[in-house]
Amino acid sequence: MLKKTFKWVGIVLACIFSLLIVAYAYIYLSTEARFNKKYSFREDPVTLSTDTAVLTRGAHLVAIKACDDCHGPDLAGKVFIDDPLLGRIVSSNLTSGKGGRPSDYGVVDWLKALRHAVNKEGKPLLFMPSHEIVQLSKADIVAILSYLQTIPPVDSDLPTHDIRFLGRILTHFDKVPLLPVDMIDHNMGWPKEVEENVSAAFGKYLVAVCTGCHRENLKGGGPIAPGLPPVADITATGRVGQMTEEQFMNTLRTGVTPEGRSLNPKEMPWPTTSKYTDTELKAIYAYLKSI
Ligand code: HEC
Ligand code: HEC
Repeated sequence: MLKKTFKWVGIVLACIFSLLIVAYAYIYLSTEARFNKKYSFREDPVTLSTDTAVLTRGAHLVAIKACDDCHGPDLAGKVFIDDPLLGRIVSSNLTSGKGGRPSDYGVVDWLKALRHAVNKEGKPLLFMPSHEIVQLSKADIVAILSYLQTIPPVDSDLPTHDIRFLGRILTHFDKVPLLPVDMIDHNMGWPKEVEENVSAAFGKYLVAVCTGCHRENLKGGGPIAPGLPPVADITATGRVGQMTEEQFMNTLRTGVTPEGRSLNPKEMPWPTTSKYTDTELKAIYAYLKSI
């Protein structure tokens, strides 16, 4: 009797195991197809500038949009996620050095990467947050690209991506922003220019980079990836509602909350938010207080 029970338990387990293997094989193939799909998006070229004010603005945007955070301080790319279960994600070398942008990498190629999340060949860029960058005005994109023409070439020898078991499962269920190409309205055109002053409108324009973690409505939620803490609600009814403008600015500049708690820069990227100007932080505060 006992022997028979064991036999049946064994058969059931074997069936479940086989089903899991088939399910994973399906997920593997379908994510592989999404990673290798080819797109053709149209972009008209923009005219770059060598004006000092534009280049200074570009350098500031590269700092506050965290390009250097992911692409490395010299923008020569780096392995920025390497997890045994999730996989390895590698950012590109944005300089003209070896392993970087080829000599025929034109303005339209830059625009396809920044506004559509595809590379020169039209294949999806993994984890590159173009769904946030596409919300930048034409003037800001021109400033970024103009500045990037002036950075010194740095040679790099980077490995390729390697998306593993958990990374594929989370991608399949759209739990990680691995395929920004699928998160963009590719026909949206250029966003409206927003005047740079202490206003909720300018704040709203700036917080696109916060939504990746704090969610579209900025009300926070569960951890963005396994092993990270939950993300705070930063609206008027959440954390920011309890802060004065000065406390808010201080938190984003020093990573220390009004209660004296130190935020981990790997979880809440305050070294990047510390680079915002007073006007920018005050505008973000005004906007967050309005929701
Ligand atoms: C969250 C991290 C992250 C941030 C922030 C980020 N990138 Fe990227 N970017 C990546 C990764 C990862 C890739 C590589 C994607 C691939 O090859 O699949 C990439 C690819 C690119 C490419 C494509 C190059 C190519 O191979 O065709 C360009 C151009 C680029 N990034 C520019 C920028 C600029 C400019 C900024 C700031 C405005 C920026 N990135 C911000 C992660 C990031
Ligand atoms: C890479 C993900 C990420 C991005 C991008 C991000 N945050 Fe956060 N933020 C977090 C996490 C995670 C926490 C919670 C950290 C904790 O409680 O230890 C947090 C906490 C905060 C807090 C609350 C601190 C407190 O007192 O508890 C504020 C305010 C905040 N973020 C503002 C912003 C603003 C404004 C932006 C955009 C300019 C932004 N964050 C971008 C992940 C992020």
